[in-house]
Amino acid sequence: MQVVTTLEELWQARAGLPGPVGFVPTMGYLHEGHLSLVHCAKEACASVVVSIFVNPTQFGPNEDLEAYPRDLERDLRLLREAGVDLVWAPTAEVMYPPGFQTWVTVEQLTRPLEGAQRPGHFRGVTTVVAKLFNAVRPHKAFFGQKDAQQAAVIRRMTRDLSYPIEIVVCPTQREADGLAMSSRNTYLSPAEREAATVLYRALKTAAAAYQAGERNAETLRGLMREIIQAEPLAELQYVSCADYDTLEELQVVEGKALLSMAVFIGKTRLIDNWVLD
Ligand code: PAJ
Repeated sequence: MQVVTTLEELWQARAGLPGPVGFVPTMGYLHEGHLSLVHCAKEACASVVVSIFVNPTQFGPNEDLEAYPRDLERDLRLLREAGVDLVWAPTAEVMYPPGFQTWVTVEQLTRPLEGAQRPGHFRGVTTVVAKLFNAVRPHKAFFGQKDAQQAAVIRRMTRDLSYPIEIVVCPTQREADGLAMSSRNTYLSPAEREAATVLYRALKTAAAAYQAGERNAETLRGLMREIIQAEPLAELQYVSCADYDTLEELQVVEGKALLSMAVFIGKTRLIDNWVLD
C-alpha cells in the first residue's frame, strides 16, 4: 500500500494503478462503516484509493474541527489490512493553497435538512469532493447511506459537472443495538452512548408504522419526535419525512421517501436516516 501526501506523488502513483479505480473519500478515524465502503470498492474495482482529510471548509465556526478525532497510524493499518492500494492524506495547504477562492455549490438540494442547520457545510463538502475527484480521477466513488443528503448532493454534483464517475451508495453500518457507526460516537459518555440508541428506535418505530399502512408524513414525524423527546439526554434538532429525490418535506408518502433526523446527545450531534420504499 502506497501512502502519499502531495498532488505530484498522487498523480504519479495513480498513473500506475490498473483500472477500474475505486475511490473512498474519508475524514479518517476509520470504523466499520468506512471499511464497508472499502470492501464494496474492492469487490467492484481492480484498484482502491482512499483519501484521509479532515476538511476544514465543511465545519462551521462552532463545530468540532479542532476536536475531530484523528489517528493516522491506526487508519493506515486498517486500510493496509483491508487491501487498499493507495492512500492520499493531503495537508490543508495542498487542498487549499494560499489565496484559495473557487467553490462548488449545489443549490436546491443543499437547502433543507443538514443544509438548513449547517450553513456552508455542503459548499465545503462539494468543493473538497470535486477537488478529490479531479486529483484521483476514479471510475467509481463510494459513499455511505448514513449521510443520505451528502450522497444525494454528490450524485447531483457528479451529473451537473459531467464527471465520468459512477457514484455508489453503500448501506449504513450499525452497532449491535442499532446505533449508526460514526467517528463522533467516541465523544459519547457511557450514559450518552445508551441514550444514543434513541435515533434508531425512533426511525424503526416510524418505519413500522409505515409498514402497517401509515402514509401521513406528519404522523410519522410525530412518532419520531415523541420518542426522541421521551429521552432525557436527547435534544431534537429536526425530524423529517421527505421525498427521496428532492428532499422536500412530504404531506403524504406516495413514492420513495427518506426519514431522517439530527439529535444532540449532550454536546454530540448525531444524524441517522431510514429509506421508505
Ligand atoms: P466521513 O464522515 O469520514 O465519512 C466518509 C464516508 O463514510 C462517507 O461516505 C460516509 O457516509 C461513510 N460512512 C460514515 N459512517 C458510515 C456508516 N455507519 N455506514 C456506512 N457508511 C458510513 O463524509 C465525510 O467523511 C466527508 O464529508 C467527505 C465525503 C470525506 C468529504 O470531506
